[in-house]
Amino acid sequence: MKTIKEISSLETYSVRHPVLREGQSMDSCKFDGDDLTSTIHLGLYINAALVGVVSVFEKNHVFFDSKKQFQVRGMAVLKHHQKMGYGEELLFEAENHAVKYYGTLIWFNARENAVGFYEKKGYQICGDSFFIENIGKHFVMFKKLNPIRF
Ligand SMILES: CC(C)(COP(=O)(O)OP(=O)(O)OC[C@H]1O[C@@H](n2cnc3c(N)ncnc32)[C@H](O)[C@@H]1OP(=O)(O)O)[C@@H](O)C(=O)NCCC(=O)NCCS
Repeated sequence: MKTIKEISSLETYSVRHPVLREGQSMDSCKFDGDDLTSTIHLGLYINAALVGVVSVFEKNHVFFDSKKQFQVRGMAVLKHHQKMGYGEELLFEAENHAVKYYGTLIWFNARENAVGFYEKKGYQICGDSFFIENIGKHFVMFKKLNPIRF
């Protein structure tokens, strides 16, 4: 059985670490703002196993003038569960959360290898690429949210 539910920031580490921080310390899985009350972490379970996570932060980016923006971070699906539609389900729920809290735009720093995934979901690149230490090339990507999606 597949379920998506809210989880704690610590629970995300079992997916964040192997997928996004392989070879780095467990501490590297902690993101600024993880435990703010405005932050949400979602986990996708197959039966009792957590296989995918995404986190949503209420945070504006200087590139955009939309009033209330949300940042998606820590989007990750365990290797053997990728390309099964789980990533897009998590992203859809992240968007629903932002819409529910009157967000008008979602943005994030996308890894170069994930840009194609986000483009399929209607996100666009904004600006030039930049490097994040220990991870690699990234692009800022964004999508304006349609408040009528339910
Ligand atoms: C990127 C990631 C979250 C996508 O999750 P996923 O469960 O594998 O993706 P889905 O199965 O939901 O894919 C949805 C669609 O995007 C496509 N897609 C998935 N990953 C892709 C990629 N890296 N590049 C281009 N297209 C991709 C799928 O083929 C599918 O296309 P379709 O609708 O035409 O069949 C996942 O592969 C992952 O964790 N990758 C490693 C970590 C990472 O890069 N995270 C993003 C950090 S910014």
